[in-house]
Amino acid sequence: MIFVSICVGSSCHLKGSMQLVELFENKIKEEKLEDSVILSGSFCFGKCNRVGVTISIGDGTNEEVFSGITPESFSNFWTEKVLKKIKECEA
Ligand code: FES
Repeated sequence: MIFVSICVGSSCHLKGSMQLVELFENKIKEEKLEDSVILSGSFCFGKCNRVGVTISIGDGTNEEVFSGITPESFSNFWTEKVLKKIKECEA
């Protein structure tokens, strides 16, 4: 199981947090990963970016923080970071 936390701080909120929450929710449902991904919101990570939203991915012990995620880059982020992490955790 992995934990995905989407920043809903004011800067990220303005740059599309809510849209990303929706993209995540849909993707998780579509790929039936409700038991593998816990989605939550987070306050500012202190990594506000000029572009996009900050998102952390963790396994309960370690977490990695990524900034600059946009609805356009969501698909790559999902495949390269989220799915990869799920596979690592299930291995
Ligand atoms: S508001 Fe998202 S990192 Fe600051």
